[in-house]
Amino acid sequence: MIIYLIGFMGSGKTTIGEKLQEQLQMEYTDTDEYIEKMTGRTIPDIFALEGEKAFRTYETNALKEITSGVVSTGGGIVETAENISFMKDNGVVVYLPTSLNVIENRLHDDQSRPLWKQPAAARAALFARRSLLYESTADITVETDHKTVEEISAEVVSLL
Ligand code: S3P
Repeated sequence: MIIYLIGFMGSGKTTIGEKLQEQLQMEYTDTDEYIEKMTGRTIPDIFALEGEKAFRTYETNALKEITSGVVSTGGGIVETAENISFMKDNGVVVYLPTSLNVIENRLHDDQSRPLWKQPAAARAALFARRSLLYESTADITVETDHKTVEEISAEVVSLL
């Protein structure tokens, strides 16, 4: 079984993924960490040296290579149509919506995410456009605002 966690940058996919790993006693993989290991480069370096298109190819490859467990995906996983159908065909897709306000408070001026480092209006447009993609891709949706990690993961488990 594969559980794909999707949602915008800073929505808690990694934290919830690690909690689910513990609760479900399943393997856990974060696609960003997987890509960093495979390439020997950090995400900002991949964006700077190879560009976003190359990163998206690494992301699609990672998705195909991870065959079980809980998978935290990068916020841009839904930018590639092939990834959407792959996740829907191969696992349960769990969307973790978080409001942009909460994300802004959490990420502040985070430097590790190249697409966060753009003007607030561009981030808001990206958030709005992606939210529609996350919604239409999800099998299960669990709101995350004002909830603890334990509450969110328990809700995910109850809906699986
Ligand atoms: C990205 C999100 C990041 C990472 C990369 C691109 C995006 O992952 O994959 O910086 O396009 O939204 P997180 O969602 O874990 O921050």
